[in-house]
Amino acid sequence: MIIAVDGPAASGKGTIARALAAHYGLPCLDTGLLYRAVGLQVLRAGGDPEKEADALAACAFDDALLDDRELKTEAAGAAASKVSAIPAVRAALIDRQRAFAARPGGAVLDGRDIGTVIAPHADAKLYVKATPTVRARRRHDELVGLGHEISFDKVLADIRARDLRDTTRATAPLRPADDAALLDTSYMDIDAAVDRAISLVDAQIGNR
Ligand code: DC
Repeated sequence: MIIAVDGPAASGKGTIARALAAHYGLPCLDTGLLYRAVGLQVLRAGGDPEKEADALAACAFDDALLDDRELKTEAAGAAASKVSAIPAVRAALIDRQRAFAARPGGAVLDGRDIGTVIAPHADAKLYVKATPTVRARRRHDELVGLGHEISFDKVLADIRARDLRDTTRATAPLRPADDAALLDTSYMDIDAAVDRAISLVDAQIGNR
């Protein structure tokens, strides 16, 4: 069984994907980490994440990089969003994601294009969303909790810039698959969102 979980930054899709993986006993891949690894490697090499040659040179990364704490920073997220608009970068990361989706027994993958491009035949698809203000509030609380000094307005501006880039790029833009179930988490806490996600997946796989 393949479960695809897509949605914008800070929508809750990562937490929901991990909870679904635990519930159904499946492995989980956060595909954003792959783009973050490429983006971070470009930054560390002093390159430009919008330049194809710099981004492509960073596509072969060591798996150990996927555990790097710096991947979670806003700088890595913004660089990830930039490299992810380059078609050759997306192509370089496809095989790895499809191989994960093809694991015997199945898998949960979360990202932007899982239900549309990586696993269009997924058994269940969720598109998780929340208003930009709610997502910025969550991300701001998280960053402040980690000790970062950053204004709410800056976080909101970053979220809007990332949404714009992710939804308007020519290759695999962020959008719900036609057959995805929509889950708006704006006014739900995480437990309610996970419960709802499980019932939506159960309904799609005929496990009511
Ligand atoms: O989910 P995230 O915030 O970690 O993703 C970081 C960036 O990577 C996101 O802004 C766009 C890109 N991305 C993508 O283009 N396709 C995916 N499947 C996952 C992430």
